[in-house]
Amino acid sequence: MISTNGDVKDIALAPRGKARIDWAARDMPVLRLIRARFAKERPLEGVRMAGCLHITTETANLAITLKAAGADLVLCASNPLSTQDDVAASLVVNEGIPTFAIKGEDEQTYYRHIHAALDHRPQMTMDDGCDLVTALHKDRPDLIENIVGGMEETTTGVIRLYNMVREGALRFPVLAVNESDTKHLFDNRYGTGQSTLDAIIRSTNVLLAGRTIVVAGYGWCGKGVASRAKGMGANVIVTEVDPIRAIEAVMDGFRVMPLLDAAPIGDIFITVTGDINVIDRHHIERLKDGAIIANSGHFNDEINITALKELSTGHFTARDFVEGYTLRNGHTVFLLAEGRLVNLSAAEGHPASVMDMSFANQALGSEYMWQHAGEFPPQVLTLPAALDREIAYLKLASMGINIDHLTAEQKKYLSEWETGT
Ligand code: ADE
Repeated sequence: MISTNGDVKDIALAPRGKARIDWAARDMPVLRLIRARFAKERPLEGVRMAGCLHITTETANLAITLKAAGADLVLCASNPLSTQDDVAASLVVNEGIPTFAIKGEDEQTYYRHIHAALDHRPQMTMDDGCDLVTALHKDRPDLIENIVGGMEETTTGVIRLYNMVREGALRFPVLAVNESDTKHLFDNRYGTGQSTLDAIIRSTNVLLAGRTIVVAGYGWCGKGVASRAKGMGANVIVTEVDPIRAIEAVMDGFRVMPLLDAAPIGDIFITVTGDINVIDRHHIERLKDGAIIANSGHFNDEINITALKELSTGHFTARDFVEGYTLRNGHTVFLLAEGRLVNLSAAEGHPASVMDMSFANQALGSEYMWQHAGEFPPQVLTLPAALDREIAYLKLASMGINIDHLTAEQKKYLSEWETGT
């Protein structure tokens, strides 16, 4: 039986978690400003919220901000391997936020934790990957009548929500935070770019310079990973299924080819597609000896791990988060972080400075959703552009950067159509 106060690995880790949460806060100036306003105005007073998020130092700062707004919040993990146990402990001990999350929890515990968060009977949900919304609709539809709306953090979650809408399944409105410019242009690109390489370096300590790195997927995350890998001196190959993104990759200076052609060339493979079995059996069979494969997409299904196991005669732990698979063809392939999103499993996720904007969107999105309770149909919504721009201005201000503003003449010019050459 899990206590309603949470389920964490070890509450003795709380002091370390608190110190690291404070460290992250230093790089989250926009969220700090929002927190100060929320503490005065209490826009979420008494609102029961459940958040299914990666339990990191940055998420802790979001949680503290929502609590400052008056929210009655509980948290659970949005991935079995992304929890920072010291942070989870600090949330429970120092912040009084029930948190159900243990790094390395099995799938059963993962879902038990999601259900413990649902037992809070939330009025608003906050997801990173849609697992909470899915569990609500599939397992606890009785709780849906309480729900005013939700927020979704990530591309994969947003895709799922659109699928729900298409099938007429979604029963409350959800704000797709990912669609804000101040979210995906920075978090997905610079955040995933840096944290993915950080995770590969931390777990393997390989030199990237001179290596051939294959990036599968050239969305914002893939763009970030590819550009950072290039910056580290790697030879980068991009694989895509979208012809437009493929041209983008070519014109950004990358080699583009089918994954099957890249398989025998690459030293390190990183999937960031959001789709299943991107590195499949026939690719694995062609990998060179010593190839490293990692996933930075939301779910652990981008690499066909079942096929990897079937092709192997055995496996061994080479280092933390590095599992070597001995293939029947004599090659060894190294899988990082069990194929789970490597940047949060083998490193700490995106740095606080980008999560500052992502979570400013979550905080303002929660306020907006509550202010408009009952007004929206069960659709996928986006944050108003004015709030997105407000976050951008606050971020610039925190960086001490000023920009130009349109003059009255320029504004008028942009609103006309008659003027020509
Ligand atoms: N997603 C990616 N990086 C993250 C982080 N540092 N905290 C929470 N969610 C994340």
